[in-house]
Amino acid sequence: MNVQTPDIDVVLLREHLVEVSEHEAELTDRVYESLFAKRPDAVELFGSYSRPSQQRMMTETLGAVLNMLDQEHWLGDYVHAMGSRHQFSYETPTDMYPPYAEAMVEALAAVSGTDWTPELERAWKAALDRVNEMMTAGYVTTSH
Ligand code: HEM
Repeated sequence: MNVQTPDIDVVLLREHLVEVSEHEAELTDRVYESLFAKRPDAVELFGSYSRPSQQRMMTETLGAVLNMLDQEHWLGDYVHAMGSRHQFSYETPTDMYPPYAEAMVEALAAVSGTDWTPELERAWKAALDRVNEMMTAGYVTTSH
């Protein structure tokens, strides 16, 4: 367990991620379907990427969430760089992070079926909230 986020069981989440990675395609479809229902304006941000690339992105995103929670030594630069790419390259507004996190939790629950537990739900929500805070803290104010 790491020092910075003692309330989040990263080991539990990592084990769960290995299980759900078998359902990567379904997980991806569900996250996007749910996010786009909540935020139709998010569609254009993802429009130019193919489905296989979206699937890889989803696994990378979940892996990045776990890395951000337990890799303290490179945390600052890594999160800063990723926040910058989201702000400037993907043009992701900060208020899209909460619906994205909700969409991920819903999708994780759906693909996990009966393996889903209240403990997993709590841990994923806490982890995604924390990562959303870290990502958006890296956003800089622009003059326009
Ligand atoms: C938990 C917060 C998030 C994490 C950890 C995360 C992580 C990632 C990662 C690892 C990538 C792969 C490329 C790269 O490293 O730059 C990526 C790409 C991308 N993310 Fe995020 N992301 C998050 C939230 C969001 C949100 C809220 C949106 C918009 C609704 C978004 C939109 C995108 C887009 C458009 C791409 C590039 C397109 C693609 O490869 O499909 N991300 N993200």
